[in-house]
Amino acid sequence: MDRDQLWQPQFDFFRQEAPDESEYLGQVRSLGELERRARQCSRCGLRRGCRNVVFGEGPPDAVVMMVGEGPGAAEDAQGRPFVGPAGQLLDRILTAAGFRRSEVYITNVVMCRPPFNRLPQAPEVEACLPFLRAKIRLIRPRIVVCLGALATQTLIDPRARITRVRGQWSERDGVLYLPTYHPAALLRDERKKRPVWEDFKKLRETYERLVG
Ligand code: URA
Repeated sequence: MDRDQLWQPQFDFFRQEAPDESEYLGQVRSLGELERRARQCSRCGLRRGCRNVVFGEGPPDAVVMMVGEGPGAAEDAQGRPFVGPAGQLLDRILTAAGFRRSEVYITNVVMCRPPFNRLPQAPEVEACLPFLRAKIRLIRPRIVVCLGALATQTLIDPRARITRVRGQWSERDGVLYLPTYHPAALLRDERKKRPVWEDFKKLRETYERLVG
């Protein structure tokens, strides 16, 4: 079955309050504090089966944020996002588009590795969502790039099909969202490289317009 169709979101990222939002967002004023809370989190079962909470990395005031799906084996082992094969490809795409990896904030929809790299399930996404929302609120990126279907459906539209919406900008609360294919999808299907390159060129153009 198409992985895009496996994800049936139960919520709308912007319209419906995430569970326990006040508990998570009310008092958190810094990324460091948010990360400490993430490391103590046991809101879903994923934490029991993984080695590290992969919180995310990058400048706390990054202009561009990348959001993937969830940690894989390499990320779980190192505690860092996008350091395995998909991450190495992401690094190359970023470099080609004129970005240093160290200038973008990189994170995922879920912070703990799902067993056997399966797609995160709706309750797991909902459990992690207050953290993702808080990261966006604290970092205030101007641009969020949604890497793949899960990030796109979580952050832009629960009904979105990545094949249809990739490359299309949308704006919410002053943040621009750009969906594109996940780098892992490019490793499986070479034909997705060209559209992703087009999307990253758009990203670069808009970034330059915004930062002048
Ligand atoms: N895939 C993701 O979605 N995120 C990672 O961090 C690594 C691979």
